[in-house]
Amino acid sequence: EFMKEASGFSVLEQSVKDKLHVDHVIVVPGNSDEVDWVKQEMGKAAIGFLRSILKNNQTIAVTGGTSMAAVAAMMTPLENAKNCMFVPARGGLGERVENQANTICAEMANKANGEYRLLHVPDPLSEESYQSIIGEPSVKEILQLIRQADVVIHGIGDAMTMAERRKASEEVLQRIEAGNAVSEAFGYYFNKTGEVIHKVRTVGLQLEDLFSSQCVVAVAGGTSKAKAIMSYFQQGKSNVLVTDEGAAKELIRE
Ligand code: F6P
Repeated sequence: EFMKEASGFSVLEQSVKDKLHVDHVIVVPGNSDEVDWVKQEMGKAAIGFLRSILKNNQTIAVTGGTSMAAVAAMMTPLENAKNCMFVPARGGLGERVENQANTICAEMANKANGEYRLLHVPDPLSEESYQSIIGEPSVKEILQLIRQADVVIHGIGDAMTMAERRKASEEVLQRIEAGNAVSEAFGYYFNKTGEVIHKVRTVGLQLEDLFSSQCVVAVAGGTSKAKAIMSYFQQGKSNVLVTDEGAAKELIRE
């Protein structure tokens, strides 16, 4: 029974891989829209993957959200990756404290026996504050770490869900709607073909930085997120996807 299931999932993983043109896909059983612990299973799978690739002295940039919080919850000491440094990929992005990148990053580092640095900046920022904050030496130092991260691990959300969760202004909501934004990641909103419709002005990782990181892992599941996952991967910025059966089956159905 177990073998049958395992081979069934490897076919599903291969189909998602072909559909999204990514290097590696992990699918866990279930649908996180319906069953809460499926998210924890994605977290466990993401940690398993991280354990297989991380090396000593590497830097890992993480984002916020509930999927990433599940990854942090599953973190264990990393015996093969000593002295790892965890950094938040970008600012708080309007999340609740427990789902903010800073919180998740500190929890991951503590459980992995690694180090962390945090970003203390409000967001969104005005152009003026943005310019002065990125000039601060302490911010500059951490920004350098973030932009040179060896591994990036992040969530993907549905555009409208995220704009509402962040209590975006009426103007931003309108822009997102008018631009037919479908997905959100790192504070960027993307349309169906993966073009950027709107970007939250905050410090940290910029989309271009993803191209220089060899390993960018997305963690996102649930049938309701299939469209968002599809949209985000149109421009191929991440090369690994950890997802669930709910999202995977919907992804290959389209
Ligand atoms: O706000 C941080 C973030 O990673 C977003 O970029 C992403 O859209 C969202 O969280 C995903 O959240 P969740 O895992 O809770 O769906």
